[in-house]
Amino acid sequence: MTAPPLRLGVNVDHVATVRNARGGALPDPVRAALLAIEAGADGITAHLREDRRHIRDEDMQRLRREISKPLNFEMAATAQMLDIALRVKPHAACLVPEKRTERTTEGGLDVIGAHDYLRPFVDQLRRGGVRVSLFIEPSLDAIDAARSIGAPVVELHTGAWCHAIEEGESDKADREFGRIRVAAARAAEIGLECHAGHGLDFATARKIASLPQIVELNIGHFLVGEAIFSGLAAAVRDMRAAMDEGRAHAR
Ligand code: PXP
Repeated sequence: MTAPPLRLGVNVDHVATVRNARGGALPDPVRAALLAIEAGADGITAHLREDRRHIRDEDMQRLRREISKPLNFEMAATAQMLDIALRVKPHAACLVPEKRTERTTEGGLDVIGAHDYLRPFVDQLRRGGVRVSLFIEPSLDAIDAARSIGAPVVELHTGAWCHAIEEGESDKADREFGRIRVAAARAAEIGLECHAGHGLDFATARKIASLPQIVELNIGHFLVGEAIFSGLAAAVRDMRAAMDEGRAHAR
């Protein structure tokens, strides 16, 4: 069986971080999004945080109007964000934790503790025509809870894996990658679309691309950092090439 295509969602939050460091309008995250799409991104992700530390409301509106590829609106599961998302009407919304009380001990959304709150929340987004994903730890319990909540998509948190690699903890990294592999298989088995993201770089994107159940990677910080040296278009093209290389070894 050949693996399905692997989409690249480029997260432009940290273009806005640089802009906000000085105030004013530059660099423009929408310009970055357009350039990323031209270079091969399949979609754009942006996180409207409650504290608006990077992306602002008008950025989200402009992204929705100006980009030709799907917009993935990352948001906390709050009434205010729900209201904004239903007005912006992005292609997709990814629910992420922002406060300590919203996350599991490891960092994904607390889909078990907050199950009864999240179920009607997800339903409202779905009825508004938004495809919902839940950003969760790569654990079987979290996958099962996500399905019970009614989300069609999960995004597996790759932070612990990437961090272990960065720290040179190879046994831990192997264990974490094993959890991702098992969680992705379970998600596909029970009919959930599986995405992944957080902390990915060329090497980790290449490796995770070999898991055929994962159909989308969302990558931001590393690409914006690389863009300082090679330019954003080259960074996106190189990421696309790394993902394609990894996908060729999918099994
Ligand atoms: N996916 C989700 C749900 C995220 O919250 C983030 C970080 O904003 C990312 C992907 C991208 O992570 P990074 O910026 O480390 O590539």
